[in-house]
Amino acid sequence: MTIQWFPGHMAKAKREVQEKLKLIDIVFELVDARIPLSSRNPMIDEILANKPRIVLLNKADMADEAITAQWISYFEQQALHALAIDSQGGKGTKQIVAAAKNMLKDKFAKMAAKGIKNPRPMRALIVGIPNVGKSTLINRLAGKHIAKTGDKPGVTKAQQWIKVGKEMELLDTPGILWPKFEEEEVGLKLAATGAIKDAILNLQDVAVYALRFLNQHYPDRLKERYSLQEIPEDIVELFDEIGKRRGCLMAGGAIDYDKVAELVLRDVRTEKLGRLSFEKP
Ligand code: G4P
Repeated sequence: MTIQWFPGHMAKAKREVQEKLKLIDIVFELVDARIPLSSRNPMIDEILANKPRIVLLNKADMADEAITAQWISYFEQQALHALAIDSQGGKGTKQIVAAAKNMLKDKFAKMAAKGIKNPRPMRALIVGIPNVGKSTLINRLAGKHIAKTGDKPGVTKAQQWIKVGKEMELLDTPGILWPKFEEEEVGLKLAATGAIKDAILNLQDVAVYALRFLNQHYPDRLKERYSLQEIPEDIVELFDEIGKRRGCLMAGGAIDYDKVAELVLRDVRTEKLGRLSFEKP
């Protein structure tokens, strides 16, 4: 589902996250490891202010491993602790509690020094743009299936704490924030990776963007996937070649460009072209 983010929705989403911040010790900011900047909320620093935070590069299973490592260093340089995770498969998610504990150790040590014998569990909130994997991570950490709240800013239900082992509790409703869609390229990246699914952007435009990107950064995979000897420089010719090879034809034999676009984007989103990162630090 794609949300229509109007200014009123953004203000409300911001307010809702800020309300939740009062209840928690730490925020897990979820981003897409394939597009760590484009999948961030543009006002995140302002919204979270000084709340302790860990950046989680989710869907790392679909991203280029070497580039994800560069992103981790990038965030660390900005004094933000970052972890690469795969919420669906579970890889990396076990480190989250330990990392949070480490980050909050001074706060909890102070509580202990005040004579609080049984410290309460750490309280955490997951925030991120739609489709970044917030519900998947909540379910992974909870070890069970928690129903997803409607992806609409302002749709709320009674909040509950979900136990994550003995040491952490998680708010069951994540903070849903809007992406940075002022720049056209950000929108194209969000669409190429599947964060924006509906036909908000023209499918062929998104496929053109993806093919140009692949041609520039992963030409061998492009050749291999579509059995191309050479990659035509002209984008229409590239569509033609892929269409011919894959039988994306209309009645009468002309190339069906929508079908080619669909096929390419499906391949990009399902790792048929390998693990792809669309952004480098
Ligand atoms: P949200 O709450 O932030 O909106 O996201 P949600 O958990 O619903 O996840 C969106 C999609 O991303 C889901 O796919 C989910 O399975 C997938 N996903 C989440 N985390 C990961 C991850 O770490 N790795 C991979 N490979 N996929 C992940 P879906 O329900 O099948 O939706 P669709 O996008 O396939 O239609």
